[in-house]
Amino acid sequence: MPATVVVGTQWGDEGKGKFTDLLAKDMTMVVRYQGGHNAGHTLVVGGEKFALQLVPSGVLYSHITPVIGNGVVVDPFVLLSEMQMLTDRGIDCSKLKVSGNAHLILPYHQVYDELHERSLGSSQLGTTRRGIGPAYADKALRVGIRVQDLLDEAIFRKKLGLVLGHTNKVLSAVFDREPINAEELADRVLDECLEKLRPHIADTVTLVHEELESTGKVLFEGAQATFLDLDHGTYPFVTSSSPSAGGACTGAGVGPRYLQRIMGVAKAYVTRVGSGPFPTELFDEVGDHLVEVGQEFGTNTGRRRRPGWIDTVMLRHAVRLNSLTELSITKLDVLDKLDTVKICTGYEIDGQMVTSMPYHQSELHAAKPVYVELPGWQQDLTQITEAADLPAEAKAFLAEIEKQVGVPIGLVSTGPGRKQVIEFSDQHA
Ligand code: GDP
Ligand code: IMO
Ligand code: MG
Repeated sequence: MPATVVVGTQWGDEGKGKFTDLLAKDMTMVVRYQGGHNAGHTLVVGGEKFALQLVPSGVLYSHITPVIGNGVVVDPFVLLSEMQMLTDRGIDCSKLKVSGNAHLILPYHQVYDELHERSLGSSQLGTTRRGIGPAYADKALRVGIRVQDLLDEAIFRKKLGLVLGHTNKVLSAVFDREPINAEELADRVLDECLEKLRPHIADTVTLVHEELESTGKVLFEGAQATFLDLDHGTYPFVTSSSPSAGGACTGAGVGPRYLQRIMGVAKAYVTRVGSGPFPTELFDEVGDHLVEVGQEFGTNTGRRRRPGWIDTVMLRHAVRLNSLTELSITKLDVLDKLDTVKICTGYEIDGQMVTSMPYHQSELHAAKPVYVELPGWQQDLTQITEAADLPAEAKAFLAEIEKQVGVPIGLVSTGPGRKQVIEFSDQHA
């Protein structure tokens, strides 16, 4: 009956994919509940790397039913090419289910995302240009096209004609861009996607509830992260969905009482792609070191991620926003060679020490991080699998984070591979 949620606690790329894959071993269903192919979730299994955008990270296990929930925005071309890539690599995607209520991302969303970003000039958000914002905007405007519309050609063509009637006017008047032909696009989508997608389109709300009632082993996989949440993130430098744990309820069609284990995932430092405030951002050689050792380049877009020290002000807020029951830490190994390591415990704002997330965002822009500095461990952690074998300095670093954040650290990851994980909570049992 109870379900588990994996949620990012920073600005994305924390290693949600890795932990989803790990937990999926003991689950029967993995559900993506929001976002789209702006996500890039990397799994490394037996030295083989899989970069997933839309397909849930449980797909590598044959016992898992992967589900794309109603809260996701789906580019049908991207989904089919990802399924093909997986199939070519020997992964069976036949059990994948896609909610008929999920909204489609179609090429005009991407065109709009690109043009709108460009028009913002130096104020641009740094979106992934995958059409995420425009697709959710259409959903909210109630002119979106849902996956189930593909099953009724007349409806699909009518809706596409309606929405493009308006979108083309905007593209032409505001951006001086040639119109997109609705009939041609409808033909393309129906010809290239419909028959391949048809067996996967389902009433996923019912499927999720049946699974909750039978096995109860359902895992909700968040994409993006708490501080990219449309409501709770650093608006406007956010995505257009609800990555926080509450998003699992609306994005999959379950009530909150099902969510029992809520695992927040945090890097042992922080990265951010795109624009927006970032109090602990590093512009020095330590930052370069984190980017180089952590290979901090976007899984999909290849963009260099902005690096910084771990920030427990954010993590404490993430605990509240998500009701986190535990925190898992990734990429601890990336800090292996540093002489000292820092943990941000508060901000100095206008001469005042602040330990909770400032509610006025201007204050976040002005926040100067206050750090606890600890000795580094100068030891390779990548082969350690028992908490007891961690160097004392690494244990002290984790214990300080745990103390600051106030929830137990469950799992600690020390490399991209499935086996590179430590059950840290045992240490405190
Ligand atoms: P996600 O979007 O949250 O799933 O994270 P990404 O896959 O975008 O980024 C995390 C990156 O770090 C991927 O390349 C992972 O393979 C890698 N990774 C995950 N955990 C670890 C770890 O503990 N150590 C190292 N060095 N890499 C890791
Ligand atoms: P995963 O699931 C990191 C960021 C973009 C941009 C902002 C808005 O791999 O953690 P969007 O295209 O969503 O409108 O862009 O959000 N962003 C991510 N950053 N990881 C992600 O996903 C992201 N998805 C979106 O860089 O700043
Ligand atoms: Mg990612």
